[in-house]
Amino acid sequence: MWIKNFFIGLSQNQMLNKAAKRYGFKLGAQSVVAGTNVEEMVESVKQLNAQGISATIDNLGEFVFEKDEAIEAKKHILSVIESINQNNIDAHISLKPTQLGLDIDFGFCLQNLREIVSKAHEYNIFINFDMEDYDHLQPSFDLIDELAQTYDNIGTVIQAYFFRAINDIKQYKHFRLRIVKGAYKESPEVAYQDKKEIDENFLRLIEYHLLNGKFTSIATHDHHIINHVKKFVEENQIPREKFEFQMLYGFRKDMQLDLAKEGYNFCTYVPFGTDWYGYFMRRLAERPQNLNLFFKQVFNKKTNTMIGIGLGAFLLGRLSKRNK
Ligand code: FDA
Repeated sequence: MWIKNFFIGLSQNQMLNKAAKRYGFKLGAQSVVAGTNVEEMVESVKQLNAQGISATIDNLGEFVFEKDEAIEAKKHILSVIESINQNNIDAHISLKPTQLGLDIDFGFCLQNLREIVSKAHEYNIFINFDMEDYDHLQPSFDLIDELAQTYDNIGTVIQAYFFRAINDIKQYKHFRLRIVKGAYKESPEVAYQDKKEIDENFLRLIEYHLLNGKFTSIATHDHHIINHVKKFVEENQIPREKFEFQMLYGFRKDMQLDLAKEGYNFCTYVPFGTDWYGYFMRRLAERPQNLNLFFKQVFNKKTNTMIGIGLGAFLLGRLSKRNK
């Protein structure tokens, strides 16, 4: 648990975030982040599409506190929407409300989102609102409620670790929903802390939405959950057009491909851009073995060795200190 908290702590460290941006992307993130620009991302998505896999594209960014930055993020996302349309790729958008200014001003954020959702609507492109930490949960639902009055091309995420998730899923059952375990550090006042309880709630939510909801994206790398879902949909005769599996870019690639080959709808979450630090640290928090990805990249490239050794030693030092 302390390892998870350690990496989540790092993910929220603004100073390290800035340093990571400056020193570049080559610290290991490149195996789980599909490039730093639109061209590289489009190439990655084309490769996925060729294997029968669709994509949800995340132009990385979160916890923005300056209006200029939020406007810049909006422009980037609008250009991604244009590139989906121009390249005719099988893809939609995932975005984070804090990237569009939720921490600055609700109305400002809503206006940015309205422009994005409206442009996507023109091209029949779906927009998924990723869910962040508890403080942003209700404001994100409020944004969705506002936009849903005009647009039907939006959906969101239900995080199974929250006690309130079962009520939320009932309220939003008419939406396309991605169901996940939850990636942030949350207080025991609002969220399950125990893995078994989170897994049980995760299954409860998935089953509820498969039976009652519009469309379910089951987002997990956990083969126990995936096997359970395969059996459940069979037993309950849930048609394959009603759900898909989702995993993150670069993780369990063989399993992603196998599921697509078995005829399930499969969608890969494709993050790209320079603001990869928080995303990458949360992946380490979920699964410290992902450090392997980091070391493989770092030690394969001589130019990065010094930075890699420095950061690697720092991380390992912190890990072993906490372990004692
Ligand atoms: P978990 O990490 O619980 O692992 C369970 C078991 O699965 C492991 O013990 C292992 O056996 C196996 N396993 C997992 N990863 C493996 C690997 N790489 N290789 C081999 N075995 C592996 N969170 C959030 O709060 N808001 C959001 O909007 C999103 N969005 C999102 C989109 C998508 C597409 C995904 C896949 C995930 C998210 N998440 C998220 C993150 C999510 O909440 C959760 O933190 C991670 O998916 C980790 O949980 P898992 O269910 O994947 O497995």
